[in-house]
Amino acid sequence: MLPAKIAPSMMCADFLGLGRQLEELAACGSDYLHIDIMDGVFVKNYTLGTDYIRKLHRVSPLPLDIHLMICDPSAKIGWFEIREGDFVSVHVEADAHLQRSLAAIRAAGGRPMAALNPATPLSAIEEVLPDIDAVLIMTVNPGFAGQKLVPQTLGKIARLRRMLDEAGYPDISIEVDGNVSFENATKMRAAGADIFVAGSSSVFAPGAGVTENTAALRRAIASGE
Ligand code: DX5
Ligand code: ZN
Repeated sequence: MLPAKIAPSMMCADFLGLGRQLEELAACGSDYLHIDIMDGVFVKNYTLGTDYIRKLHRVSPLPLDIHLMICDPSAKIGWFEIREGDFVSVHVEADAHLQRSLAAIRAAGGRPMAALNPATPLSAIEEVLPDIDAVLIMTVNPGFAGQKLVPQTLGKIARLRRMLDEAGYPDISIEVDGNVSFENATKMRAAGADIFVAGSSSVFAPGAGVTENTAALRRAIASGE
């Protein structure tokens, strides 16, 4: 089982107290900062942008996990400041030239990740296993925080882990994104996930701070091992 990593979803962060929260997220051991980029077409929402990524790179020591929910990503990879060690995910549903996009991410120094919506079969990534470092399993339909888990995605995580291991890719990570609550994180870990995008139902859940919530999330993940 690959070591568990936590990627707080920055669209759920406290925008009015972002500097303090970034320090807290780094201090409590976050592994990546998950950055949702939406174009209003692939998903019916807008969130964070190219300048936000540039500014984060200057103020936070954490690598980024850039989630591109945009159409035609192969033509837009260069819009984003990608640094060595950053994950960059593109949706297979949005890209007629998936392998080209993944190669462009690698060439830019990023770690390529292929993202699958809940209804997209695992077969969609069969031909790009040599080109990726991770697969993003959307456990909700993308576009908004605060949604509920699509239940059948738990089985999809387990099938993906088996598929990757049997194909000889045990080091390709599985990232889960959407309603990664404390309860769901345990089930996702048991199914084989290793990177957890933590949003409104865990790290940024109301009632406790990010440090306390992150510790609770790590305990929940560990209890799925
Ligand atoms: C949704 C985004 C997620 C979202 C997660 O399209 O990709 O990163 O912020 O939010 P929660 O954890 O509240 O589902
Ligand atoms: Zn996301």
